Amino acid sequence: MTGNIFELPNRSSERSKGGGFVSLSHSRSQWRAALVGREAETTMLSNFLDEAFSVGASILMSGPAGVGKTRLLEEVTRLAAEEGALVLSVAGVDFEGKISYSSLHHLLLPLLKDVDSLPPALAQALGVALSLFDGEPPRPLMVANAVFSLLSRAAASQPILLMVDDFHWTDRASASVVGFIARRVHGSRIGVLAAYRTDAGAAFERAGVETMSLHPLTRDASEALVAESHPTLPTRLRRRLIDDADGIPLALLELADSVNDIPIGDLPAVLPLTERLESVFAERVEKLSSAIRDSLLLAALDGRREIRALQEIGVDMAALADAEATGVVALDTATMTIRFAHPLVRSAIVASTPPEVRRRAHRAIAERLIDDPDRRGWHLAETTLTPDEAIASELELLGRAARRALRQVEARARKAQRLGVFVVRAVFGEDGHVAADEIHSAGHVDVAVRIRSCALCRDRSVR
Ligand SMILES: Nc1ncnc2c1ncn2[C@@H]1O[C@H](COP(=O)(O)OP(=O)(O)OP(=O)(O)O)[C@@H](O)[C@H]1O
Ligand SMILES: [Mg+2]
Repeated sequence: MTGNIFELPNRSSERSKGGGFVSLSHSRSQWRAALVGREAETTMLSNFLDEAFSVGASILMSGPAGVGKTRLLEEVTRLAAEEGALVLSVAGVDFEGKISYSSLHHLLLPLLKDVDSLPPALAQALGVALSLFDGEPPRPLMVANAVFSLLSRAAASQPILLMVDDFHWTDRASASVVGFIARRVHGSRIGVLAAYRTDAGAAFERAGVETMSLHPLTRDASEALVAESHPTLPTRLRRRLIDDADGIPLALLELADSVNDIPIGDLPAVLPLTERLESVFAERVEKLSSAIRDSLLLAALDGRREIRALQEIGVDMAALADAEATGVVALDTATMTIRFAHPLVRSAIVASTPPEVRRRAHRAIAERLIDDPDRRGWHLAETTLTPDEAIASELELLGRAARRALRQVEARARKAQRLGVFVVRAVFGEDGHVAADEIHSAGHVDVAVRIRSCALCRDRSVR
């Protein structure tokens, strides 16, 4: 494909059904308005459609889970159909990934009636591949040629958009055929648009096909999306979920639903996931070995990024290196820190662990944090469901230490009036968790941890 799809079309009218022209400005501008923060991408895809339906074009789109691939594809599909194209679409399905040509069968459903009109050898190859006829297993190249021939014939009367979502889940045989077509569309009126999750890997050789990376939304666009979808969400919740969603629209929308029900002062350190979010993010976690999961659970519950600190609480370095190889975390050897691939991967690790195992992990961490009373207190508080005498008295001791620490924090916080207000509130005990959240979102994680442990101690002494 040539580079001109990146330019804005400068025509006021475009193709329509049967090759005529209608004004597209309305439809295409509606499309742009429906999507938040995707001006560059809609321009690119709009140009892609122009090129696809005149001289042929292909794009292979990649992006992380929940970033908005399907949404963009749906919009392109709708637009293509409105403009008179025949849309052949399929979404890869996890469990069908092992059935050869299952996605191709789905993709070609509207054209199956025309298979017989192909030259006999091609018709036989494709018919057997799609289980329409019995016969010897066909050579993959014959099948790919047959599909190309079928599409080219159909494109003579109507432009075609071949759209494959969740490409990472299509079976290999179908994916090879789609790749074959994507590299041969020039000179036809065929567009191929396929999307896959970045961490899953494309199902076909990308060489010779234009690629497009769909990035998370910017902070401003994230704000705009939440303002539009949940206009009444309190500022503090909005800020927190925008931090955690990290530009992933799925997370922005779903977290906004889940935090809506949480009392404003009780936002947990790791946000709860909705079912859909958990299924998206937990999927990456579930495939990990138990050694990797155990270490990641410790790191997720602890929340610090420094590798040295994580080693101290029992995180195994070899397991972390293995986790990095799977893309779930990234290690930065310059700063000796780790980062979860997405903040919600951290939530997914916690959410997918049974509560009993979670409590044991908190206890294991607390046992190693002898010299860090604040963190130890917080983890101890998470190990029990019912008040426990021993823990309560330890928390009381820790509470004193925390209050001492808090006095030092207070002195520092006086320099910053806004933060000072929250620290003082925490000292007087009413709003400790709220203050901790606020200070956490202002980037003072250590201070927030101290204040939270003080608030927890206060909660327990009040009970
Ligand atoms: N730019 C956007 N503006 C408004 N809503 C959006 C935008 N992008 C995505 N969404 C919404 O976010 C949600 C997730 O998007 P979508 O399903 O397209 O993600 P995806 O990348 O296909 O995820 P997956 O990898 O799980 O398939 C959907 O509800 C979608 O409508
Ligand atoms: Mg999708």
